[in-house]
Amino acid sequence: MTKPVDILFKPFEHGNIAVPNRIVMAPMTRSFSPGHAPNDDVVAYYRRRAAAGVGLILSEGVSPNATTATGTPNVPNLVFDEAKAGWRKVADAVKAAGGKMGLQIWHEGPYRNAKASEHPDVPSWSASGFKVPGKQIAEPMTSAEIEIAISEFVDAIVATKELGFYCAEIHGAHSYLIDSFFWRETNLRDDSWGGAWEGRTRMAAEIISRARAAVGADFPILIRLSQWKQQDFNALAAETPAELEKWLTPLVEAGVDGFHLSQRRFWEPTFGPDVAGVGGDAHLNFAGWAKKITGKPSISVGSVGLSGEFTAIYGPGGESTPASLDALVDRMEAGEFDLIAVGRALLQDPEWALKIREGRTDELMTFTKDALATLS
Ligand SMILES: Cc1cc2nc3c(=O)[nH]c(=O)nc-3n(C[C@H](O)[C@H](O)[C@H](O)COP(=O)(O)O)c2cc1C
Repeated sequence: MTKPVDILFKPFEHGNIAVPNRIVMAPMTRSFSPGHAPNDDVVAYYRRRAAAGVGLILSEGVSPNATTATGTPNVPNLVFDEAKAGWRKVADAVKAAGGKMGLQIWHEGPYRNAKASEHPDVPSWSASGFKVPGKQIAEPMTSAEIEIAISEFVDAIVATKELGFYCAEIHGAHSYLIDSFFWRETNLRDDSWGGAWEGRTRMAAEIISRARAAVGADFPILIRLSQWKQQDFNALAAETPAELEKWLTPLVEAGVDGFHLSQRRFWEPTFGPDVAGVGGDAHLNFAGWAKKITGKPSISVGSVGLSGEFTAIYGPGGESTPASLDALVDRMEAGEFDLIAVGRALLQDPEWALKIREGRTDELMTFTKDALATLS
C-alpha cells in the first residue's frame, strides 16, 4: 500500500527557517569543479533540482581554505575569486528557479588525502592527530591552528551569505575536522578544546557564535552531526540521551538554528531500549532525539526512497531500486523530525521530488553508480 505523501509537501516554518516543503537535497560531493571553482555544469545541476521542487538544497562540501581543507581534486572551495563567482551564479540560478539553497562548509581534517592535494607537505589537521582511534597521523593542532580553522569557517559562512545563499551548513559529521573534536576517541586533548563535552564542542560552538555575530539573526546556520564514524558505523559518539544533550546544548547556546542528523537508514533507532533515559522513546532516530532534546528544527536522512544504503555504492553492484515512502510518511506525520534529506535518489534523478509529488511512482529510477560519472 502507498500512503499519501502530503506531509512531505507541507511548508515548514520555525524561527528563522522557512521552506516551501520538507524535502532537502542532501550534501553530496561531486568533484566536478576544475580549479576548485564550480562551472556552468554545476550551476545547471543545482538549478535542475530547484526547478523540480526540492524545498531546500544543501550543496556538496565546499572547502573553507585552499591548503588543509581538502585533498580531493575538483572539490570546490570558497576561497578563490573564480570559485566565489561560480557560487554566485549557482545562488542566482537556484533563486531564479524558485529554490532555496545553502552551502555545506567542509574541512576534511584527518581524512584529507594530502598526497593527492596541491599541498602534500602541509600536515592534515585534527584534534589530536588521530584519523582513527590509536592511529596517529599528525601532530595535534596547535591553539593557533584552531583559531585559524575557526576564522576560516566563519569567513566561509559570511561569504555564503554575501553570495546570496539562503543558509549555511557546518559539516560536523563523518570523522572530518570538527567531528575529530567531538569524539572522545579521537580528541585526547587536555586543554580547553578537549576533555568533557564542553571542551570537545567548543570549536563548533565558537564557529557558530562568531558566525552568528557576523551574519545576524536572520541567516540560518545549520550543523550536520553523525554518531557513526567512517571506520565504524556502529560508533556512538553520545551513548545516552543525557550525553547527547551535553553535545547539542552548547551548539544551541552558541546560536545554531537547526540540526542535520546523519544516518545511513532513517528508520534505525539511535539508542537501544535498555539505555538509561530512553524510556518510551526507543523508536526515535537521531533526528528525533535532536528535536526532542533541543526543540530545534531537525533534518533526518538515510536511504529515503531506495532499497540499499549509500556506502554500498563503493562496493560491488551499488544499485538501489525505488522503495516505499510509507515508513517515512508515518514518522513525519508523527512529528518525529521536521525535514528529510534525500541523497542518491536526487543525484540520480533531478525530478525525484516532482515525481513523488505528482504520484508518478512508475517513473522513479534505480540508483546506479553510473550516476556518479556525470553531472546531469
Ligand atoms: C556521492 C556522495 C557524496 C557525498 N558527499 C557528502 C558530502 O560532501 N557531505 C556530507 O555531509 N555527506 C555526503 N554524502 C552523504 C549524503 O549526504 C547522505 O547522507 C547519504 O548519501 C545518505 O543519503 P541517501 O541514502 O539518500 O543517499 C555523500 C553521499 C554520496 C552518495
